[in-house]
Amino acid sequence: MATRMIKVAEPLVGEEEVQAVREVILSGQYVSGHRVEEFERRFAEYTGTRYATAVSNGTAALHTALAAFGVGPGDEVIVPPLTFFSTVTSVVHAGAVPIFADIDSESFCLDPEDVKRRITRRTKAIIPVHLFGNAADMDGLRAVAHEHGLKILEDCAQAHGTEYRGQKVGSFGEAGIFSFYATKAMTTGEGGIVTTNDEQIYEYARLMRGHGMPERDTHVMLGYNYRMSEIQAAMGLVQLDRLEASNHARIANSEFLLAELQDIPWLRVGKVESHVRHTYFWCPLWIDEEKLGMPFSELIQLLRSRGIEVRQRYKRPLYRQPLMIDRNFYANGKPWPGGDYGEPPDYSKVFLPNVEKVAGKLLGLPNHPNLTPDDLAYIVRTFHEIQPS
Ligand SMILES: Cc1ncc(COP(=O)(O)O)c(C=O)c1O
Repeated sequence: MATRMIKVAEPLVGEEEVQAVREVILSGQYVSGHRVEEFERRFAEYTGTRYATAVSNGTAALHTALAAFGVGPGDEVIVPPLTFFSTVTSVVHAGAVPIFADIDSESFCLDPEDVKRRITRRTKAIIPVHLFGNAADMDGLRAVAHEHGLKILEDCAQAHGTEYRGQKVGSFGEAGIFSFYATKAMTTGEGGIVTTNDEQIYEYARLMRGHGMPERDTHVMLGYNYRMSEIQAAMGLVQLDRLEASNHARIANSEFLLAELQDIPWLRVGKVESHVRHTYFWCPLWIDEEKLGMPFSELIQLLRSRGIEVRQRYKRPLYRQPLMIDRNFYANGKPWPGGDYGEPPDYSKVFLPNVEKVAGKLLGLPNHPNLTPDDLAYIVRTFHEIQPS
């Protein structure tokens, strides 16, 4: 048994965050202050968008952006089945119907050709996820969206600083969202943000996150309490300053690991397009269980016993989650609020070949900025020692 565990994810934080948060606590102003505004301004500048609206988490950001698009009952939104579940549930939160499309088997992101096949007269938007820090095919997706008059909401929860043709993700669609959850490339504990160049989307998002309240005691729309606190924003400002150094370390660690492991016959390394700056939120390996002669779960246990924590990303296609199969979206069997849509689709019949090939077979390696050269060498050595049975 190994004496030390190399963790799969670790936040990069220090005294600066402690100091920044301490100042807010002592100031007595915890909401709606200048730190949130500064964080929004600086994050918009970082992504190269005109506006940003900070919210309480990435899921709230997705819901807010969809509502700002005018997505609602009777509408369909095209989503990938290999992502965190809230990319999909946010569509349901907006009262609309998620429709799954297949992914590209190299980038693991939405395949524009398959997206095209899923478009109906009800389709309003597409949510490409820049999965693991890679970038979705924005040229292809924008062409499809343009042809069919659809809006694009980029889910950049795993892609802070990822670039496509030299431009940051989150600036291609009508809106983008980011998460600042604890394990993300930068964190505020919990947190999220909506980026956009569209003034109307921006104005809607600001109202929606704060009870639909343009001024005290006046509520003009159905809003929520999706605000980010000053404490979160103070931490976010420091984390934003660290982001590029952290991304550089993640990229260097991942490129080293992938180059050193690529010849192992029981795994495969995905291809990254030359016009993409992959920021490796996850450093993914595609495991061939047959060649390895061992189920994925055993590999995870074996690596754990050698002191290396890894993650399986993601266990099953999201159309096979119990909620999607049962379609019991509301308590007490309350009906789906799909307007004239009728019943939601029968997700148990969905089968997308590229998703099926990779779901449950992707392994996320430790690649965080706190890893030492010795940690990296140890990971490489350990993988090479594993003999197929
Ligand atoms: C791709 C993706 N979308 C959305 C989210 C939701 O973000 P949050 O956890 O901040 O609600 C996450 C992460 O948790 C994610 O990885």
